[in-house]
Amino acid sequence: MQIIVVENYEEMSLRGAEILAAVVKEKPTATLGLATGTTPIGAYRELIRKYENGEISFRDARTVNLDEYVGLDGSDPHSYRYFMQDQLFSHIDIDLSRTNVPSGVAEDLAVECTRYTKMLAECPQDIQLLGLGSDGHIGFNEPGAPFGGHTHVTDLAASTIRDNARLFDRIEDVPTRAITMGIADVMQAKKILLMANGKNKAEAVRAMIKGDVTEACPASILQRHPDVIVILDREAAGLL
Ligand code: GLP
Repeated sequence: MQIIVVENYEEMSLRGAEILAAVVKEKPTATLGLATGTTPIGAYRELIRKYENGEISFRDARTVNLDEYVGLDGSDPHSYRYFMQDQLFSHIDIDLSRTNVPSGVAEDLAVECTRYTKMLAECPQDIQLLGLGSDGHIGFNEPGAPFGGHTHVTDLAASTIRDNARLFDRIEDVPTRAITMGIADVMQAKKILLMANGKNKAEAVRAMIKGDVTEACPASILQRHPDVIVILDREAAGLL
């Protein structure tokens, strides 16, 4: 695990975008595993800038997103499909038919989970970008999620609902379930880039890096991946 500590969010975003851009430059047909949340917004902004400068193109790339809320379709501004359109896809030259976000409104969610797992197995991520939940979750793999798990529907932890309530009008509006890649789907990526900033992530960062590898801290599994880069700002690195 390579750990990079930087001063602030801005620097974390620039370094993260650099690493993602390098993958696309080296392999224009790369499969990029993408994440939502506040953490990657700055890195996406920087990728858009690099695209506008003619530095990179996503024309032949493909994307697979980690997760989606159950019950929200892509036209809902709180959905992760909407987030991806808004924060990245609509600003770059990606072919939308090659962007993938699990559907939270599929008629049969079990069928959707199987479809997504199969799609991921056929097209493993050249790089998977991750944020980190304050409870150590990756994607929506909450504490206790099995390390061998594939795409599944999960109940969100109370702390995750509280954390994400800031993005909704009322806490009651936060969906209580999500569909997420499993840990095994994340770990199949050739390379993993995790970014975390802010002091509310410091304890999860400590558990991920210094703690035991345990399903109680889903991100701790990353200790067993051969190619992981973690970029932290000073506050997130505060307990290391
Ligand atoms: C969310 C997402 C994760 C994200 C994490 C951190 O619930 N499911 O993919 O990495 O929590 O979010 P943020 O970046 O907003 O702190």
